[in-house]
Amino acid sequence: QATTTILGLETSCDETAAAVVQRDAQGGAKILSNIVRSQFDEHKAFGGVVPEIAARSHVQYMDHIVAQALDAAELGFDDLDGIAATAGPGLIGGVLVGLTSAKAMAYAHDLPLLAINHLEGHALTPRLTDGLEFPYLLLLVSGGHSQFVLVKGVGDYERWGSTIDDALGEAFDKVAKMLGLGMPGGPQVEQWAQKGDPKRFVFPKPLLKEKRLDFSFSGLKTAVRLAAEKEAPLSDQDVADICASFQATILKILDNRCRLALARFQAEFSEHQPRFVVAGGVAANKAIGQLLKDLAVEYDAEMVVPPIKLCTDNGAMIAWAGIERFNLGERDGPDFQARPRWPL
Ligand code: KG4
Ligand code: ZN
Repeated sequence: QATTTILGLETSCDETAAAVVQRDAQGGAKILSNIVRSQFDEHKAFGGVVPEIAARSHVQYMDHIVAQALDAAELGFDDLDGIAATAGPGLIGGVLVGLTSAKAMAYAHDLPLLAINHLEGHALTPRLTDGLEFPYLLLLVSGGHSQFVLVKGVGDYERWGSTIDDALGEAFDKVAKMLGLGMPGGPQVEQWAQKGDPKRFVFPKPLLKEKRLDFSFSGLKTAVRLAAEKEAPLSDQDVADICASFQATILKILDNRCRLALARFQAEFSEHQPRFVVAGGVAANKAIGQLLKDLAVEYDAEMVVPPIKLCTDNGAMIAWAGIERFNLGERDGPDFQARPRWPL
């Protein structure tokens, strides 16, 4: 197989991103450029992502970000083998901007189009960063998703469990919001937790008695809100203790669920060492990262945590998913429709 070079676009939430990734004949991957423009400042005042503002901002910056990605890679459209874009799931206005841009560029430059599932981008990232072999167990924890996925091959995924209400990152964000901490909430809660007493509050651990691999965080979130209301007005120490107790509860939930998932992987693939991968923005949390690393050691699992820049939303993961599908001979037509919902 020859070298494959793909431009990838990502616009499913509040990052306008474009990247050029190249895979050589030996299978080695190189990120030639990876440009991400966060819309953080545009949404800050609203305490969350406003879909209409996000879509307009993607329209405004898309061309510029693509030009930057090609410049940084020192390539032109002529050097590309294809154009990949997130086609869902996500905020539909934004997805339409990226996918329609990709269709137009593909048509204008006579290049193949690859319509990518955003979750597939996250799921295949450990192959971009570490050349990980199939099959592997993926824990995807972001602002929009919390799930265990068995990744068996490109396009071959088995969902082992997911959240029945809030995503894990969303729970962090909502707790931060009710405590009056800034956005995005995850890193704030983590910082405050370092100064707090994780044992002061005992919060519920929903679903933990059940042996299925699903998550639930809304009851926990409510318990945090009730504790905050009961202790109000909150001192800095109260805030720190609530954050520490919340994070400690999350750690217990993750510990329990990951053990179940790793045991299932071991049972199904007893012939080789388990492979365990974490992706999504919440993987940036150091306490969570440490817990998962300890579990990997205990289960003798090969573990990959991609660098944070590639865990959060970016164009490189979309370009890479495009390369994997391109090399399997897959192509998408100009009639491919954007999908607000699109389970793996
Ligand atoms: O993957 P991501 O960048 O965007 C998507 O949701 O697709 O994930 C963002 C989420 C946010 O909810 C953010 O609060 C959370 O990841 N997050 C964290 C930390 N850093 C980011 N949660 C806990 N601890 C962190 N250090
Ligand atoms: Zn994402």
